[in-house]
Amino acid sequence: MPISQRAVTQIAAVPVILAVVIYSFWSSIIGTENLNESKKVLQLAKTIPLPGDGPESLEFDSQGQGPYVGVTDGRILKWRGDELGWLDFAHSSPHRENCSRHEAVPSCGRPLGLVFYKKTGELYFCDGYFGVMKVGPEGGLAELVVDEVEGRKVMFANQMDIDEEEDVFYFVDSSDKYHFGDVFYVSVSGERVGRVIRYDMKTKEAKVIKDKLYFPNGLALSKDGSFVVVCESATGKIHRIWVKGPKAGTSDIFASVPGGPDNIRRSHTGDFWVALHSKFTLLTRMFAKSSLVGKTCMKLLKVKTLIHLTSGGKPHGVIVKISGETGEILEVLEDSEGETMKYVSEAYETKDGKLWAGSVFWPAVWVLETSVFEGK
Ligand SMILES: *[C@@H]1O[C@H](CO)[C@@H](O)[C@H](O)[C@H]1NC(C)=O
Ligand SMILES: *[C@@H]1O[C@H](CO)[C@@H](O)[C@H](O)[C@H]1NC(C)=O
Repeated sequence: MPISQRAVTQIAAVPVILAVVIYSFWSSIIGTENLNESKKVLQLAKTIPLPGDGPESLEFDSQGQGPYVGVTDGRILKWRGDELGWLDFAHSSPHRENCSRHEAVPSCGRPLGLVFYKKTGELYFCDGYFGVMKVGPEGGLAELVVDEVEGRKVMFANQMDIDEEEDVFYFVDSSDKYHFGDVFYVSVSGERVGRVIRYDMKTKEAKVIKDKLYFPNGLALSKDGSFVVVCESATGKIHRIWVKGPKAGTSDIFASVPGGPDNIRRSHTGDFWVALHSKFTLLTRMFAKSSLVGKTCMKLLKVKTLIHLTSGGKPHGVIVKISGETGEILEVLEDSEGETMKYVSEAYETKDGKLWAGSVFWPAVWVLETSVFEGK
């Protein structure tokens, strides 16, 4: 009797299920990897509730007002302080009838990385469905800037930064197949299809400057504009891509962080803050090594279960500061019990001594005084 396709799939599933069971057992004893010398301070942050889920990125305008944050239903909101609260500032799409607070809907768009073009006061942003967009200083409906590069659609624009001297921006396209709504597949598929793009705002020319990355996510320009750093979420590597000077066109590994980095932001001193979605575990390291493991898990398990498993069963916030010159890790901040912060997507330091943070999953932003950890 021929063995049916179904039976083969079931037999093949046994070792994977066993591995997951053993892993879960292991994780309940050992958990995520311990970090050396982390400062356990993130639980001290103040929580500001948000009338929308998932502030993936935070940005301030040239007057220092904000933060502005993008949320799941396709809006960008602006914080105006405790008294005035949140203002509905802008949105990605005119089609807002089916937008949901908790789940991204393709027709509504999904604003991710935000950055002001200070010269004009326009807010540029990566939309995880439409491409790179911009909206004027008064807000309202955003317009598309670029959604195709070198003949390939921009599927999943994620974070960007602007070189105001050159009138050029750089951004990451995380996938060739999936939009933001299928972000988890991008992270476990094992496919090295992400790319980094340079866009000349004067000539409107777009060019791929690095490709074959495995879930590139965050991007920031160095203080002197000579390189961009790009966080690869699946591997924890931070690539440095030289864009000016004698090394332009080459790249190397600038730093490695102990978890899956999401966005990266330059501080006013020129260092970088990297938000980790979660620390690495045995399972996430396996995903990075073999696309088979990830693809099998995608078939067998629900996304929610996978997200829980890949955060070691205990999601908690981790933010890392790396040197803008050497890539060396300068600070590791944690909320080791996940009391306040979980799944941090971005950390942004303001000149008045505050570290702001947001999460793609959470209906709040967090703010911590930097004096809580500096010099400690
Ligand atoms: C922690 O520090 C020890 C000793 O310096 C080192 O061997 C180990 O690799 C470090 N672990 C991590 C996760 O950085
Ligand atoms: C909203 O949902 C309705 C019902 O499913 C559908 O007919 C309509 O086309 C949707 N609108 C948009 C903009 O997707």
